[in-house]
Amino acid sequence: MCGIVGILGREPVAMRLVESLKRLEYRGYDSAGVAVLEHGRLKRVRAAGKLRNLVERLAREELTSTIGIGHTRWATHGGPSEANAHPHIAGRVAIVHNGIIENFSELRDELRRRGVEPESDTDTEIVAHLINLELTEGGTPKEAVLNVLERLHGAFAFAIIFEGEENLMIGARRGSPLAVGHGEGEMMLGSDAIALAPFTSRITYLEDGDVVFLTREGFEILDEERRHVIRPIQFTQAASLLVDKGGYRHFMAKEIHEQPDVIGHTMAEYLDFAEGRVRIPDMPVDLAALDRLTITACGTAFYAGLVGKYWLEQLARLPVEVDIASEFRYREAPLSEGGLSLVISQSGETADTLAALRYCKSMGQKVVAVVNVPESTIARESDVILRTMAGPEIGVASTKAFTCQLVVLAAFAIAVARARGAISAERETELVRAMQQLPRLVVKTLEHENQVAEVAQELARAQDILYLGRGINFPLALEGALKFKEISYIHAEGYAAGELKHGPIALIDEHMPVVVIAPRDRLFDKTVSNMEEVRARGARIVLITDEEGASEHGAKAFETITVPAAEPFISPMLYAIPVQLLAYHAAVFLGTDVDQPRNLAKSVTVE
Ligand code: G6P
Repeated sequence: MCGIVGILGREPVAMRLVESLKRLEYRGYDSAGVAVLEHGRLKRVRAAGKLRNLVERLAREELTSTIGIGHTRWATHGGPSEANAHPHIAGRVAIVHNGIIENFSELRDELRRRGVEPESDTDTEIVAHLINLELTEGGTPKEAVLNVLERLHGAFAFAIIFEGEENLMIGARRGSPLAVGHGEGEMMLGSDAIALAPFTSRITYLEDGDVVFLTREGFEILDEERRHVIRPIQFTQAASLLVDKGGYRHFMAKEIHEQPDVIGHTMAEYLDFAEGRVRIPDMPVDLAALDRLTITACGTAFYAGLVGKYWLEQLARLPVEVDIASEFRYREAPLSEGGLSLVISQSGETADTLAALRYCKSMGQKVVAVVNVPESTIARESDVILRTMAGPEIGVASTKAFTCQLVVLAAFAIAVARARGAISAERETELVRAMQQLPRLVVKTLEHENQVAEVAQELARAQDILYLGRGINFPLALEGALKFKEISYIHAEGYAAGELKHGPIALIDEHMPVVVIAPRDRLFDKTVSNMEEVRARGARIVLITDEEGASEHGAKAFETITVPAAEPFISPMLYAIPVQLLAYHAAVFLGTDVDQPRNLAKSVTVE
């Protein structure tokens, strides 16, 4: 994973690299470091832990260099220590890397045979040594890098500088993303456009296999076949994206509260309120003739896909398979040529989801991506993008991206249902009108935040929590449990309410709170029966339901959280809010690092 940046500039770069790294911390925060050419010599400053540790160290240095590279790390090979922090240096070479070199142990053995003993446990340092050996054998930096790239298996994006070369930086990508930034008399490299946003909005996205040679005056790209290629310069809006907490204590809180707005923005893309219609971009296949759809994603996006399955099957009568991308990519699933696949990703850079997309394409399928970052690799490689308008999501635990994914999937399901003649124009209008209520209903749901915060404090005392839901609320139980465990570090598990008696009920006692997600819909009574089963075994129940559900069965719960009554079709977007708030407030109460929970990263660009 990790975020990388490089600046070949006209002013001192050290603090500018830090400025970029701040915007890349979502990619990992186990350690950070920079390397510059100070008076012609490589100088490196690194620190384990968050970026602020690096900033403290840099404050003690007086660095004037105008060329440098920087890195923020999510540990893959080797623990999160300073010794394993990037940049890695070997002789004249300093390198930062995002990705995994799969044949690293073979290459390390070879280095040892050649008398080189690496200082760190990382795969990256091996690459630095290999390049340096090429230099000592007389190769130029360009030749050295090209030769070594040939030998690497796996995924990578690199930025490399060389002692003795004040006007050269080399970048390369295979699998992991890398963009070139064009400044005034300066050039940059970054994992994404947002990293470079403080300095430029002119970006060239490298393609897989590209190598780029930067000088202050310009750049030269070689493609996978090592032919010269011209890649376009694009203007990005990343520079205008404000990334601050907007007065909230955490990004996650800000993002939870942005949901009425961003759900509204996303709906504006796909719903025509005046006409009561859904409008989605033209699809590359005939939706009426489809016999099935495959959805792949990871984490929270996978749970959004599971909700999408309920909508698409119930409303559009389209069989849907939803798969975890890391499983799907190796399962060799048979897919019919000319069929349709859908991938869901907030970042658009998740390595497994990208691999799933490529697999679908290799099977002759067309791919639709529900994606939040329009310049991402997944967006660029898909046939059609259904963009979520969530804006930048910084909190590692996904919130607003999830509800926006649901909005897009709901609109898509309605469009597919209409195309297949599964619903009437009147039903389409009814559903659009129901969705139109969402921003107002989300605001009303958020009004219960204080009560939810109190319940969260109770849950924060538990060791294990069970989340139950049925039907379309089952994926919400999974999402609720995921949210809770990732930021509070308390074990939580989501279960289909009907599956309870096939195992997890054995866990139930008075110490185990059970969160039941149950709007007063056609499955309500069934879920209530399951609730009774756990209540009879002493569990403390937190019931999340609407006013009607609360008045009928609220008395049986230890706590009841009420959500406004709504058309069942839109309930997933509403019930997402209390589960997010429960997790958030439990984590705040416990004092964990809400926005950057341990061991996690926002964008998982390694498999
Ligand atoms: C990571 C993030 C999750 C996210 C998942 C998929 O695990 O922490 O919040 O749901 O990756 O990411 P994507 O960007 O593909 O939606």
